[in-house]
Amino acid sequence: SGVWVGVDVGGSKVLAGVVDDRGRVLRTSRRTTPGRAERVEQVEDTLSAAVLEAADGCDVLGVGVAAAGFVDAAGERVMFAPHLPWLDAPVRARLEHRWRVPVVLDNDANAAAYAEGRFGAAAGVDTSVVVTLGTGIGGALLLDGRIHRGASGMAGEFGHMQVVPDGLPCECGGRGCWEQYSSGNALVRYVRDRLGGRPSALATRCAGDPARVSGPMVTEEAEAGDPLAREAFAHVGDWLGVGLANLVAALDPHLIVVGGGVSTAGDLLLEPARLALRRALVGAGHRGVPPLRPARLGPEAGLVGAATMARESGAAAARPD
Ligand code: BGC
Ligand code: NA
Ligand code: ZN
Repeated sequence: SGVWVGVDVGGSKVLAGVVDDRGRVLRTSRRTTPGRAERVEQVEDTLSAAVLEAADGCDVLGVGVAAAGFVDAAGERVMFAPHLPWLDAPVRARLEHRWRVPVVLDNDANAAAYAEGRFGAAAGVDTSVVVTLGTGIGGALLLDGRIHRGASGMAGEFGHMQVVPDGLPCECGGRGCWEQYSSGNALVRYVRDRLGGRPSALATRCAGDPARVSGPMVTEEAEAGDPLAREAFAHVGDWLGVGLANLVAALDPHLIVVGGGVSTAGDLLLEPARLALRRALVGAGHRGVPPLRPARLGPEAGLVGAATMARESGAAAARPD
């Protein structure tokens, strides 16, 4: 016996977990992601530590790595990553060499979409758009349960569609990208820019220091009813709906699934998004509007998908054929 591990390498945190054959997470381990200015080795050390801790001494059969970046069509390299130091890096081979077990590499949102299609909200659905809101916005298009990959393997980078000409600078080097307006970073920025301007539990919690505001903190205070935190979700949710309206205009999916850490706020995020989607969608009132559902596997969807991809490719390799 042995275990399959998935590890989600996001812009802010690394989350590893042991996943069983029904997509259930048995044990997890988390770390803070080293910043984009750090060395590549430091990121790989961090994710190794998380994988080993999650495995907890069990024999590891294979690892799925879900990376917050552009993975090539072969699943070998992270070519570009707005929030991570990997650049044209042969990540799959390096980690396989380090761990001496089979490694599968994919984009984090693709992995999340795979898990939702296999075990979650998108199971049995023909066409689904999946977006994950964390540090940035990840995306994937599921056609008949399969990830649409495109020519370079990089389809689904919805977070870098320009929604504001000459807008906020983005870590990708562009301006006005959707993820600058609807993501964990956008949520935190909204609060930071307004902290101290009026009474809020967040100002008290951060002793007035905007740098101490974090995404999970805004979620907690929004759930507890803090007006500034709620307003931040209304704002980010509205922008979520606006971007989704563009995706629906282009793709006309049956379903939209929203995952990632920010989505744990549920309807605080999704209700304003639904309203904005109806408002901004071309032809609304004369056409179907797809339902917007939270990821069933929550913020663990990425690691579940990655572990499942590793398990399935391992099983395929072991089959005598
Ligand atoms: C990256 C994507 C990633 C997403 C979520 C974006 O900034 O370009 O590759 O999926 O963040 O982590
Ligand atoms: Na993707
Ligand atoms: Zn961008």
